[in-house]
Amino acid sequence: MKRRNFIKKASASSLGLIAASSLISCQESKKDKIENIIKSNNLIRPLVIATWKTDLAVETAAKVLEQGGSALKAVEQGCRVEEANEKGQSVGKGGLPDRDGEVTLDACIIDHKGNYGAVLGVKNIKHVISLARKVMEKTPHVMLVGEGAKKFAISEGFKQENLLTKASKKAWLKWKETSMYKPIINIENHDTIGMLAIDKKGNISGACTTSGLAYKMPGRVGDSPIIGGGLFVDNEIGGAAATGLGEEVLKTVGSFLIVELMRQGKTPQEACEEAIGRIVNKPGKNYKDFQVGYIAVNKQGETGAYSIHQWFSYNKYVDKVNTHIQSDFFNKV
Ligand code: GLY
Repeated sequence: MKRRNFIKKASASSLGLIAASSLISCQESKKDKIENIIKSNNLIRPLVIATWKTDLAVETAAKVLEQGGSALKAVEQGCRVEEANEKGQSVGKGGLPDRDGEVTLDACIIDHKGNYGAVLGVKNIKHVISLARKVMEKTPHVMLVGEGAKKFAISEGFKQENLLTKASKKAWLKWKETSMYKPIINIENHDTIGMLAIDKKGNISGACTTSGLAYKMPGRVGDSPIIGGGLFVDNEIGGAAATGLGEEVLKTVGSFLIVELMRQGKTPQEACEEAIGRIVNKPGKNYKDFQVGYIAVNKQGETGAYSIHQWFSYNKYVDKVNTHIQSDFFNKV
């Protein structure tokens, strides 16, 4: 084809395309268009996945997404449910204290633009996930710790309250009889809550909140509020979150590792399995003494979960159904 004819044809077809797309945009609402793009790419959304049996938290996050809310709002609202649940002894109010009987909370949140906020070792503030979001959105920093975080919370109107419930105090007093520090595998109904969500626009956000290990040394911080440790999201690729012994997650930068493995082409399941492999294959490590579990989601909405030991579980909301699922695990002997 001669160059001039080619240009003419190309222009004609471009005009045709423009005309057709303007017609489409007249006929379809923006919402329909987004839904059609999603369907044609086999993308699964909205979606929520969270560590442990967290039915109500996931249901709450899913409701936000179904109403068109952002993934960021969904994970914050979801995590708040567990922070307010006094029966859960590893998150928010009712969390087990450190050796001195003080409940200190850690949390972080990350949005689809890669913005991140975290608070570490916060006393007397229940909704640390919302405080982490305030750090992300209202300060020039990404992390606030201890008294500084609490001072910021008060300036933002957060309520101060005693986080040590009767049940947690009783458990701590019992522990003090021997003061033996030993993380116990899956002893609680659940551990840290890590939550990942994809909203209707396809944006991914994540959140993580915990009271950390029961009877930890005062000042100890685990993986949960550390970007790349307990939580990581790259909106182009996917997200991952961790639960279990934070020290081991931190040493392998677990959540960041999983997202990077997905970037290299692994499925979320394969990536979670390799991240657990990095822990259990360490020389001299006795993984029999502790638990670590991961959840992950990729941009398409495929998910994965894997832990060292049995009984790690997670909730997943997809296709309007919220299911509690037992994770596959490494130690089958
Ligand atoms: N994964 C919670 C912690 O180790 O603090």
